[in-house]
Amino acid sequence: MLATRLTTFISTRTIRKTTLRCIGSKVSYSTGSEFTVTDNEINIDGKTYKKDKWTNVSPTTLSRVNRKLHLHPQHPISIIRQLIESHFHDFKTFHDISPIVTTKQNFDDLLIAKDHVTRNRSDNYYLNETTMLRAHTSAHQLQGMLSGANKFLISGDVFRRDEIDASHYPVFHQMEGVVYFDRDQIKTAEQVTKDIEMGRLKEAENVKVVDDTIIKPENPMQESHTQETVEPIAAHLKYSINSMVRKLFADEPDLEVRWIDAYFPFTSPSWEVEIKYKGEWLEVLGCGVVRQELMDQAGLHDKIGHAFGLGLERLAMVLFGIPDIRLFWSQDERFIQQFTPGQIQKFQPFSKYPPCIKDISFWLPNKSWEENDFCELVRDVAGDIVENVELIDDFTHPKTDKRSLCYRMLYRSMDRNVTNDEINVIQERVREAVEKEFAVELR
Ligand code: PHE
Repeated sequence: MLATRLTTFISTRTIRKTTLRCIGSKVSYSTGSEFTVTDNEINIDGKTYKKDKWTNVSPTTLSRVNRKLHLHPQHPISIIRQLIESHFHDFKTFHDISPIVTTKQNFDDLLIAKDHVTRNRSDNYYLNETTMLRAHTSAHQLQGMLSGANKFLISGDVFRRDEIDASHYPVFHQMEGVVYFDRDQIKTAEQVTKDIEMGRLKEAENVKVVDDTIIKPENPMQESHTQETVEPIAAHLKYSINSMVRKLFADEPDLEVRWIDAYFPFTSPSWEVEIKYKGEWLEVLGCGVVRQELMDQAGLHDKIGHAFGLGLERLAMVLFGIPDIRLFWSQDERFIQQFTPGQIQKFQPFSKYPPCIKDISFWLPNKSWEENDFCELVRDVAGDIVENVELIDDFTHPKTDKRSLCYRMLYRSMDRNVTNDEINVIQERVREAVEKEFAVELR
């Protein structure tokens, strides 16, 4: 029906390409980088990378590059990023650095040995021997330090070949934080105390933090550091993280968080923080005191710093109650529509069953029209089985000046397949009700 009308009026009509927020609305994501892969080269957004024996990046992974979920204001990953940025409100932020980095940035700058296992082809996505998709936001630590900021956050997508399950995905998002102080111990210690006194590091009753890590030979302080400088910087790190966790999880009942010893080539001592979710400990962050050699590379010889790298998906899964990491990549509007910028809301699972789509079009008795009244009526008649109502055509006849609308209704059940026959019955009832209520002329 719609098709014939379109051809009849195509020359005179003006089709307003609007999608009105009615029962549902459309969202647009960044579509990501443009790329082509040939036998010898990979081209991403106009830049060419020569393939070699290291190349192992797949088109599926490339299609996820630069989708920038962390910058889509309504996306849970972005909501978490912004909440963290607002907690560390005086930090400089970097959130649009390209994920295509050199192996020097990803490994060498961070003192990761040439033969270290984390460089394995089987764990990373290489464009070629010297270029890769970053495996962590730490790849930009040095860049951040060179920017001159003494407190900064870097967020972005990171890529790793990994196991497949509900909490692992080859692309995820990280947020890196780096803070450094003058090596003068007193100043540093004072800073920690000041922060505590400012009340930024208040306790939240519902969050139980277990930390029995101490600085010991197995997880040592660095040779060039002294106890007097390391203890305050470690305390500052721990307070910064714990207060952030407490703030993020303020409304979560009975959250358990624990600190455990860890190893990273670019920090010492190093720790990991885990959060208990559905009975399992999930690693959400790695951190530690920045290796002085790294600080020295940035010319920060007389400074001492700490760094942390947070996994945003894991935090979002716990906070929003999102059961599967793949949902973050869902193009289904029913995912993104649930969320509001700046707010943590529990995710409502949606149906996996296919929709049944019906259009209704009618001439209005006069030109004014209240869309909300129409949606209300549709909901009344059809019930919860109607998932989305969208205006797809709004046309005023050039001769008669009569206005015609066409709405597309999407019907779907949460727990079963709906049949076309049963939806036809509902649609007929909707048509009758709309005709009666609004005195429209059905088409
Ligand atoms: N980059 C580390 C990772 O991805 C986390 C980390 C960041 C550790 C900063 C220490 C300091 O696992």
